[in-house]
Amino acid sequence: MRKIAIVTGASSGIGREISIELASRSYDLVVVARRRDLLEKLKYDLEDKYKINVYSLAHDLSNIEEINRLVEDIKRLDLSINVLVNNAGAGIYGPLHELNDEDVIRIINLNYVAPVLLTKRLIPDLSKNKGCIVNIISMASYLSIPWFEIYTSTKAALSNFTEALRVELRPLGIRVIGVYPGYVKTDFHRNTIASKSALNKRDMPRGPVLDPRYIAKIVADKIDDASFNKDIIPGRIYKVAYVLNKLFSPVVKYYIKRSFEKKLV
Ligand SMILES: NC(=O)c1ccc[n+]([C@@H]2O[C@H](COP(=O)([O-])OP(=O)(O)OC[C@H]3O[C@@H](n4cnc5c(N)ncnc54)[C@H](OP(=O)(O)O)[C@@H]3O)[C@@H](O)[C@H]2O)c1
Repeated sequence: MRKIAIVTGASSGIGREISIELASRSYDLVVVARRRDLLEKLKYDLEDKYKINVYSLAHDLSNIEEINRLVEDIKRLDLSINVLVNNAGAGIYGPLHELNDEDVIRIINLNYVAPVLLTKRLIPDLSKNKGCIVNIISMASYLSIPWFEIYTSTKAALSNFTEALRVELRPLGIRVIGVYPGYVKTDFHRNTIASKSALNKRDMPRGPVLDPRYIAKIVADKIDDASFNKDIIPGRIYKVAYVLNKLFSPVVKYYIKRSFEKKLV
C-alpha cells in the first residue's frame, strides 16, 4: 500500500517542491493551502504524471476552526497518515506597535499553533504507522531580529517544540525532523506583511540563495531514511553559519543591534 503524506503550504515554494518530490517517490498526498486553484492544478499534474492519489484541501491554517476542519476532512476521507510536513508559514515585519493585532495573531497561529494542533491530532495515526513529522523551521529561529520578532519567535517556539517532541514521540515510533533553511528562492519575502513605516526599510536577506528543489530532495531523502531522526540544516555554508553563531553569539547580537540602529537614522 502507498504511504500518505500531508504537506501544508503546498501551493508554492518549498511545500510545492516537497509535494512533487514525494509524489515522484510514489507517496499519495494531501496538499493544503488557501489557494484552491493552485492546489487543484498541482493535484491534476501529479496524479497524471505519477499515477498517485492527491487530495487537495483548501484551508486557512491561521484560523483554529479551519485547522480542526482540515483534521475532520482527513478523518472523513478515512486517510491513515504516514508523514506530516508542517511547512505553511509567513513573515510579518515592522515596529510591534504598528502591526495590526489580527495579523500578529494570524502569523502566530499559522507558524506555531497550526503545526502544534495538527501534530497533536495526528499522533494516533502516525504512531500506528510508525510515521514521521517534518517541521520547516528557519535559521532565523536562532536570531532575535528587531521588527521581525514575531516571525523569529514563532520559529524559535517551533524549534523548541520540535526538539522536545523528538524525545517524547520516540517511544511511539514517530520520528521528528526539524529543517532549518537559510535564504530560499520563493515568494516568502514578497509575501511578508510589512507595516507602513517598515515598507522601504526591509533588509533583503543576505547569504547564498538555496533552491527549494534542493531542500525538497534532502527532506524527502531523510523522510525515506527510517534511521534518520534529527535536524537538517541545508547547504554547507549555512551549516558553517550555524556553528559560527553558536560560537560567537555575542558578536552576532552586536551586529544585529548595530544594523537595526543604522536603520533608525
Ligand atoms: N524562503 C525562505 O527564505 C525561507 C527560509 C527559512 C524558512 N522558510 C519557511 O519555509 C516555509 C515555506 O515558505 P516558502 O519559502 O516556501 O514561502 P511561500 O512560497 O510564500 O510559501 C508559503 C506557503 O504557505 C501557504 N500559506 C500561507 N499562509 C497560509 C494560511 N493562512 N493557511 C494555509 N496556508 C498558508 C502558502 O499558500 P497560500 O498562499 O495558497 O495559502 C504557500 O503555499 C515557511 O514556513 C517559511 O517560514 C522560508
